Amino acid sequence: MWSSLDVFSSAQAFQEEDLRGKTAVIIDVLRATSTIVTALHNGAKGVIPVRDLGAASKIAQNLDSSRYLLCGEKDGQKIEGYHLGNSPLEYTPEKVAGKTLILNTTNGTIAITRSGLAEEIVIGSFLNLQQVVDALRQTKNEVVLVCAGWRGRLSLEDLLCAGQIVYELTDGTLPENARDGAKVAFGLYEKYGEDLEDVVKTSNHAVRLRDIVGLEDVSYCCQVDMLAVLPVIDDGILVDRHGSKKIENQ
Ligand code: MLT
Repeated sequence: MWSSLDVFSSAQAFQEEDLRGKTAVIIDVLRATSTIVTALHNGAKGVIPVRDLGAASKIAQNLDSSRYLLCGEKDGQKIEGYHLGNSPLEYTPEKVAGKTLILNTTNGTIAITRSGLAEEIVIGSFLNLQQVVDALRQTKNEVVLVCAGWRGRLSLEDLLCAGQIVYELTDGTLPENARDGAKVAFGLYEKYGEDLEDVVKTSNHAVRLRDIVGLEDVSYCCQVDMLAVLPVIDDGILVDRHGSKKIENQ
């Protein structure tokens, strides 16, 4: 069983060293981690998370152009010249199956790249919540749920998702050694868990997205346990852990 449980409120709310040797779950409900989970579910070969445009083009230069897609957003919109934006609904099997995606987003991929010292990196969202909980039940490491937030501030939807993971993992009873971040997230979920989608729709980022792309993505990202996918980092690339198990078992 995991030895301690904490929640960080944003991609900037920790020192990279804080994650050394731990299991980190990165959460960006709106929308980067929901997009990653959806893309892998729909057959993408892998997702390479990058910090910025420069890192994305550098990686793209070394790949066969028929095999990758440049993906990501700036201010919620697709980046000019990219193949896909950051709406999970764009990541259909027709577009992503068999492709390696290079993903560049404002907060989500920064949270992932800042977590590089963790022993294990797992991608979490409402969509694959039970998969994350099951994986955390197996680890003996210290566990940190890293919410991406928004430019250093906390985001309600990420903290709520972290709270539900903490709640399920502890069967609704917080252990005495839970850290303050885990207690706050747990309490938030206890208060708002019943009205998840309605509450997330009032969040700052949902309101921002409503004005840019509408609320369809928000409703999609609030569905709990819809996809049996567990993205984990393997040599800098996010792949579905169950996918690699399926291959090993063949
Ligand atoms: C981010 O990384 O901040 C996001 O996923 C933004 C978005 O596209 O909604």
